[in-house]
Amino acid sequence: MPSTHNFDNSEQLAQALASAVATNLREGIDARDAALLAVSGGRTPVHFFHALSQQKLDWRKVVVTLVDERWVAPTQDRSNEHLVRNHLLRDEAAQAQFVSLFEPAATTPEEALTALATRIVMLDLPFDALVLGMGDDGHTASFFPGGDNLAQATNPLTHALVAAIRAPGAGEPRVTLTLPVIVGSRNLYLHIEGAQKRRILFDATNADANDDKLPISLVLRNARAPVQVYWCP
Ligand code: 6PG
Repeated sequence: MPSTHNFDNSEQLAQALASAVATNLREGIDARDAALLAVSGGRTPVHFFHALSQQKLDWRKVVVTLVDERWVAPTQDRSNEHLVRNHLLRDEAAQAQFVSLFEPAATTPEEALTALATRIVMLDLPFDALVLGMGDDGHTASFFPGGDNLAQATNPLTHALVAAIRAPGAGEPRVTLTLPVIVGSRNLYLHIEGAQKRRILFDATNADANDDKLPISLVLRNARAPVQVYWCP
């Protein structure tokens, strides 16, 4: 079962989540002189990114990457890289290293998978902290219901590190970290806001074993440690 932390508003949640993630990063730096962080895109994380960017730690030793990416150039507003570069990699966190999940030489995410897997395998996994979001359809990362490669991307036994996914609700073609990479994180967070997402999460915690209608349930069921849910109205 997930561990839930409720807050009165987005700003309070952002400060608490930024503090928890910063602690994980400091622990990684103390233990291995390096720390790994993966974050999700979308609208929800902006306050969190701003709060995390203010945290004082040795950001030069932190590698930041994405949980998933829309297949658009990093100059586009829809790009998660664009979001992270504008809202997280600034102030204190400007000194962090960033590993992109976009490859301009590839016209499709499918063409880029080998190159992207090489980037991820070069990281000293597992992540110290990985922050997921969730859509109103129960998707997380790019595990969208009806996704063409959803089964492969969420197979707990896959050795693949990244997957390409095309799905009715995804907009652009996507590239995503696979389920084992996500649930193997030392600290796994789910940042959701609003009553509708809380209802979806409740349904997912009660979904039956093979319910890919709410892909977040696949993460909840396979996480190495309880998923830390951060929620506000
Ligand atoms: C993305 C994200 C995705 C996101 C959810 C929630 O690329 O869209 O990685 O998994 O976390 O779609 O997005 P919102 O925060 O915009 O609701």
